[in-house]
Amino acid sequence: CGIVGYIGAKQAQNILLEGLSKLEYRGYDSAGLAVYNGETISVNKAQGRLSNLEEKLAVRSLPGVLGIGHTRWATHGKPSDENAHPHVDSTGRFAVVHNGIIENYIQLKEELMAKGHTFQSETDTEVVAKLIGDLWNGDLVSTVQATVSRLEGAFALGVISENEPDKLVAVRYASPLVVGIGRGENFIASDIPAILKHTREVYILEDGEMAVLTKDQVKLMKVDGTPVEREPMHVSWDIETAEKGGYDRFMLKEIHEQPKAIRDTLASRIKDGLVDLSNEVALSPEAIRNIEKIHFVACGTAYHAGLVGKYVLEDLARIPVECDVASEYRYRDPIITDKTLVVVISQSGETADTLAALREAKKQGARVLAITNVVGSSVAREADDVIITWAGPEIAVASTKAYTSQLIAIYLLGLYFAQVRGHKSEAELKEIISHLGQLAGLAEQVLEYEGKIAEFARSIADNEHLFFLGRGLDYAVALEGSLKLKEISYIHSEAYAAGELKHGTLALIEENIPVVALATQSSVFDKMVSNIQEVKARGAKVLGFAVEGDSELQKSVDEVITIPKTIDLLAPVLTVIPLQLFAYYACIQRGYDVDKPRNLAKSVTVE
Ligand code: G6P
Repeated sequence: CGIVGYIGAKQAQNILLEGLSKLEYRGYDSAGLAVYNGETISVNKAQGRLSNLEEKLAVRSLPGVLGIGHTRWATHGKPSDENAHPHVDSTGRFAVVHNGIIENYIQLKEELMAKGHTFQSETDTEVVAKLIGDLWNGDLVSTVQATVSRLEGAFALGVISENEPDKLVAVRYASPLVVGIGRGENFIASDIPAILKHTREVYILEDGEMAVLTKDQVKLMKVDGTPVEREPMHVSWDIETAEKGGYDRFMLKEIHEQPKAIRDTLASRIKDGLVDLSNEVALSPEAIRNIEKIHFVACGTAYHAGLVGKYVLEDLARIPVECDVASEYRYRDPIITDKTLVVVISQSGETADTLAALREAKKQGARVLAITNVVGSSVAREADDVIITWAGPEIAVASTKAYTSQLIAIYLLGLYFAQVRGHKSEAELKEIISHLGQLAGLAEQVLEYEGKIAEFARSIADNEHLFFLGRGLDYAVALEGSLKLKEISYIHSEAYAAGELKHGTLALIEENIPVVALATQSSVFDKMVSNIQEVKARGAKVLGFAVEGDSELQKSVDEVITIPKTIDLLAPVLTVIPLQLFAYYACIQRGYDVDKPRNLAKSVTVE
């Protein structure tokens, strides 16, 4: 989502609209503005692209010099006029825009409803607006502080009130927010591009900080009121770099967003050390126990997530799993019964083959669960159950953060089913979940190898052929690494289950052929080392992936990337990140367009 806010002497509407238009790359499903007109706050919002809102504003404009605006990427509640922001309290005197997720909104909503508040939307944001109205104590800043102390989750807020129309209040909790400093006017925004036209002097709020803006002043403080002193930062980026959060390409930005995407996808789904999906998966415990087989069905990178899913669900929940590409599944007359659970995975939720496979499966009586990144997408609407991956909009054609979030959703599903079916003890489950909780931090560590990976990628960028090898889960990840490389760098690459080498592929290994060998799975580590020696003996140049503490591999390969220690089952989340970076830097070295590879589209909505 995107946030913009303005306080000054100019008409807010156009400044807000223009700001929102600069956030278009975040993708949207709805947008809205709230402006104070000297007496009251008026709100205008519309589902769909910003132009829909512009059309509405052309009929009913919002005059005034104080306002907030928002573009939405649905999390709680489908895209609609009602669910669009801003949201107002029960008196209509406070308006709120919000990014992020309020994890305890259901409890808060029940509490507020018991007090007589009624809700117009399905969003967690409206709870914040109603809560502000409910806690109003005659002072806007302390009311917002009291409200924030009741919220759990990750959020950024912009708040205006008729009661104190000389103020704009902003809060940041683990969701970005910047304050732009003007002359006789000040701004807030979730992203710098939204305000870059007006100012280059900004404060970047830190977690747990808030800002109180008047037209002539900006006061920073912690949410407990302790004043914060900081020099503003001067932004020297051009608008294009700013859109990418300072990164050169969207793909690189999205690779770096993975720790956050992992955290957000896990958030609120772990309670008391165990996975709880009962809010989103309506399958009863009995229905979960009755599942006889699972089919993972998807395309492209999402299909590769499904391949990991096969290992994970079979291992954790001991349910037999098949994994199919959607374009095969829909035409191959698969054996489906009412005890089959079909799990479709789709970042966009709009891929034509995946959607057709979903419909076919439903027609044949399967229960369909969707893992998707887009609330309200076709796949999300048509599936019986939905697990949303909270990766945020993904712009680069080559999928990165969507994949790792899909893996997290799959782990959650596997752990949930294992628990309901009693395949693991509570202690075993808690142990795995504690490792799951550490993954985001470990992903941050993996990102630090960027320089080393870039160097290796540059050294092989002139090759036209390359091989990826792995066993078990490493094989599934090798397939994704290979796809990443070929789709953006146009280097021909193949991924092989290392044990299959000697049945054909070994014939292709010759002097200086680059081989990426993944050896993160302890149960097949020795076998992998033998396979590496086989390719080394034929002159291959090997980049090996080992887990921290494994000194063995170093001896057999040319370069080693070390993955921080986790359990074998979770290693794919960490292993894939260097492979994404590897593809990225190979592509850069070859001078191709990373974000828009030739012949490919982000969302394939035709067969
Ligand atoms: C396209 C994209 C891929 C993606 C695939 C499936 O081919 O370029 O990155 O993995 O579609 O898309 P979906 O939105 O269903 O995950």
